[in-house]
This record gives sequence, C-alpha cells and structure tokens, in this order.
Amino acid sequence: MDIIRVKNLVKSYEIYRKEPGLWGSVKSFFYRKKDFAEAVKDISFTIKEGEVVGFLGPNGAGKTTTLKILSGILYPTSGSVEVLGFTPYDRKKEFKKQFGIVMGQKDQLVRMLPAMDNFLLFKEFYEAPEGEFDKTLEELIELLDVKEFLNIPVRKLSLGQRMRCELIAALLHNPKVLLLDEPTIGLDVVAQKNIRDFIRKYNQKKKTTILLTSHYMDDIKELCERVIIINFGKIIYDGKLADLISRYATEKIIKITATDTISKESLGKFGRVEDYQGIRALIRVPRDRVKSVAAEIISSNLPVDDIFIEDMPISDIVRAIFEGR
Ligand SMILES: Nc1ncnc2c1ncn2[C@@H]1O[C@H](COP(=O)(O)OP(=O)(O)OP(=O)(O)O)[C@@H](O)[C@H]1O
Ligand SMILES: [Mg+2]
Repeated sequence: MDIIRVKNLVKSYEIYRKEPGLWGSVKSFFYRKKDFAEAVKDISFTIKEGEVVGFLGPNGAGKTTTLKILSGILYPTSGSVEVLGFTPYDRKKEFKKQFGIVMGQKDQLVRMLPAMDNFLLFKEFYEAPEGEFDKTLEELIELLDVKEFLNIPVRKLSLGQRMRCELIAALLHNPKVLLLDEPTIGLDVVAQKNIRDFIRKYNQKKKTTILLTSHYMDDIKELCERVIIINFGKIIYDGKLADLISRYATEKIIKITATDTISKESLGKFGRVEDYQGIRALIRVPRDRVKSVAAEIISSNLPVDDIFIEDMPISDIVRAIFEGR
C-alpha cells in the first residue's frame, strides 16, 4: 500500500528583491519587486508502507521544502500530495496523530522546559491513551538512553542529547509515518551511529514508513535500500541504492599497505594515487580493470604487504550524479 503519494508537486516561494545599498532599501520600502523561485519543479513519487527511503540532494535542492509540504507546514503551489490518505495541509488532527517529523536544524521541544515536561505536553496534544502512552515513553527512554537528563531544561543539553529527545517527541504517539530531515547533523560519529542504529531497529520493529534526508552517506548506506535523488527541484534518480552503485560507480579503490616505502611515481603507473603515505596509499582504478591491476601489483617486485579492493564511496557517486557526470 502506498503511504505517501506525491504527484506533479511544484512549490515556488515568493521572494522580494531589493536593489543594493541604502537607496535600494529606501526604494524597497515603497515598492518591492516580487519574484518567484521554484524550489520544487514537478516531482512525483510514491512510498510504500514500511519503506525507509533516503532523500538526497545538494544544498538547496528542495528536500526540506518537500518534507515541509508532506508534513503540512507548507502548501504546494500545484500538484497533489497524499500521506496516509490525508492531504497534509488540511492539518487534520487525525493526520497529526499518525505522523511524526524531526528536523535536525530546528527544534520542536520547548527549550526552557525539561524534556520530560515537553513529552507530557505532547501527550495532551495527541490525546494519547494513558497506558499506551506511558508504555511507549518508557520504551523510548530506554532505547535512546535519555533517563539521566530528562529533568534538565532542554537548552542545557548537548546537541546529541537534544536530538535523542527530539526523536522521542516525534515518536511518542507511535506514528505510522516518520520524516527525518538531517537527524544526525552536527553530531559526532558515535552519536550519529547511535541514532542510525536506533532508526534501523525502530523501523524493523514497528514497520514505520520513513523518509530521511542526510548529507552523511553512512546514514543512507546503512538505512536505505531505496534512494530518491533531487537536484534543482527535480528528481534525477529514484531506485535501489545498490543499482545506483552498480550503474554509476565507474571506479574501484585499491588500498595498499607496504612493508617499506613505495614512491608515489611507481604507484602512479597503476592508477590515480590518493591519500599517499609512503607505506600506505589508495589507488583509483577503472572498474573493469581492477582485477588485472591488482594482479599486476601483486606480481610486481614492490614491497607490498597487503591489498584490499573497495567500492567507490557513495558520496563520490552521488556527487558525480549531482554534477551531471
Ligand atoms: N522560505 C523561503 N523563501 C524563499 N526561498 C526559499 C525558502 N525556503 C527555501 N527556499 C529556497 O528553496 C530552495 C530549496 O530549499 P530547501 O531548503 O528545500 O533545500 P534543501 O534540499 O533542504 O537543502 P539543504 O541540503 O541545504 O538543507 C533553495 O533555493 C532555497 O533558497
Ligand atoms: Mg534542508
């Protein structure tokens, strides 16, 4: 069953341009030149129940705009959006009760209040049944390990601690759909991994449908079987992440460790050398040549200790697609 349906969605923002300088400011006080910027240009996609889909694209591609429309924060300019059978911008309470969103760049919790008080406010809002709410809250507190700082005002928490509380707030009412806009932004690698592990387990257990944006490719690689890539407001790829890699990964990476220093020049014969450290280096090799190059390296008389062959990082593949290569 399709939980999210987006058809020919367009969103333009009204923008007002001002001429530079003081005179420009004075003029704009009387007359503002109205303009439109199309942030989302005719996109369509559907997402099935239980899917975890990665929504990728460079800065300004239109990801947050799309998520805001899916959550009912913004109206579309044209096209249609359906989530759980609701039109999000009708903002029906029944819809909000089944829907959660976390925006890494913007907090939903009241900063003056401790997380626990925030959660209780959400409980009122969602009109959650007593027993069920308490059980869910207890579970989430345990899973996200936030017990120690539940009673400290949110503004005093670290970013990682706050993000875990934001996740709880978004999940307290057991939503069927969860939108995550950069939930790991700014976190250290350990905190990022904890959030990722939580999201994976949560989806496996609850079968919640999740649409996730992140600039960290580890998030995408570990959580999303399918990705939608958007650039300049248009979808340029929608499909399996594995297919994306096999279609667009033009190179493989040979990692070399040596027992003695090997010169950069002698490695350069095999491919493009990167991250050269004398006894360690990466060599980028066209995919169809990787086997023969690896064999050449092994049979050469260089002091090679070991070699590993790896796929190109997804971030490189995605960047190549953004750049239209
Ligand atoms: N409130 C607004 N008014 C005018 N233009 C806006 C507004 N919000 C976003 N935009 C513009 O719409 C485009 C898409 O922005 P959006 O925030 O959706 O991008 P994004 O894909 O989420 O980028 P990022 O990865 O940086 O978060 C950008 O060009 C942005 O400048
Ligand atoms: Mg964004």
